[in-house]
Amino acid sequence: MNHKESRIYGNKADLDYAKIKSFFEKRKEKIGYLQPLNLTMYQDKNPELAIQRDIFEKNRFFELINFQNKKLKILDIGCGVGRWGFHLSEFAEIYLGFDYSTTFIDIAKQKAEEENLTNLKFQILSATSFQIDELFEKPPFDLAIIAGVMAYLNDVDCIELLKKVEILLSNNGIFYLREPIGIERRLTLSDFYSDEMETEYSAVYRTIDEYLVLIDESKILQNMKLTKNEALFPSELNNRKETAQHIFVFEKVSK
Ligand SMILES: C[S@@+](CC[C@H](N)C(=O)[O-])C[C@H]1O[C@@H](n2cnc3c(N)ncnc32)[C@H](O)[C@@H]1O
Repeated sequence: MNHKESRIYGNKADLDYAKIKSFFEKRKEKIGYLQPLNLTMYQDKNPELAIQRDIFEKNRFFELINFQNKKLKILDIGCGVGRWGFHLSEFAEIYLGFDYSTTFIDIAKQKAEEENLTNLKFQILSATSFQIDELFEKPPFDLAIIAGVMAYLNDVDCIELLKKVEILLSNNGIFYLREPIGIERRLTLSDFYSDEMETEYSAVYRTIDEYLVLIDESKILQNMKLTKNEALFPSELNNRKETAQHIFVFEKVSK
């Protein structure tokens, strides 16, 4: 595939899941050279940017989500090295993070053990095929997080995942969804060589409107309301012209 074909604009192109999984497997080659945070937040040649983004997102998250002094049951889908678990441990009755990468889950488990955070649980599962009754913690959850995972899923799997999130949440439960988006148009990277990460990379940057269509098609808005739909980073933390990070927050409406 030549350079041009590996950046696909507009038209929908399916992602190759095997290639994406192998990209995440290969991130373990960077252990030791990069901080665990950079394994999933990238910026291999400017690791400090990932740290700044992590702090910014954490602060924004706490501005958006009111914990009301209640300890929560939290589910983090595609949790990577568990960064949300460590940010939220003091607010969690139980936090369950799952990811299909054994490497990332092992890193997360080891850190939780070292820090004696017994309320953090991690599990190896796929976001596209997990069954609700396989989860180590039983629903309902008060808070569900998906951060930077739908960019690796095809539309049909995003819709199925949204439906599952709605089922998994308690009444008044909150769903924080943060994804990279295409600013003006959809962009699919298909085995695109990333100079930053020195490897091929695949992901889809949907537009905000395309995310809204997926949300609509999932029908979750029958039981949930969209309370926030906004950009995450100020321009100084965004280093791309065509893409940006975007937040959607939902609340399950009590019946
Ligand atoms: C960009 S990282 C984000 C990690 C974490 N959510 C965070 O905010 O730090 C994307 C994560 O999604 C995971 N992932 C991608 N596709 C997945 C799938 N189908 N099932 C489970 N995990 C997946 C990757 O292994 C990786 O840990």
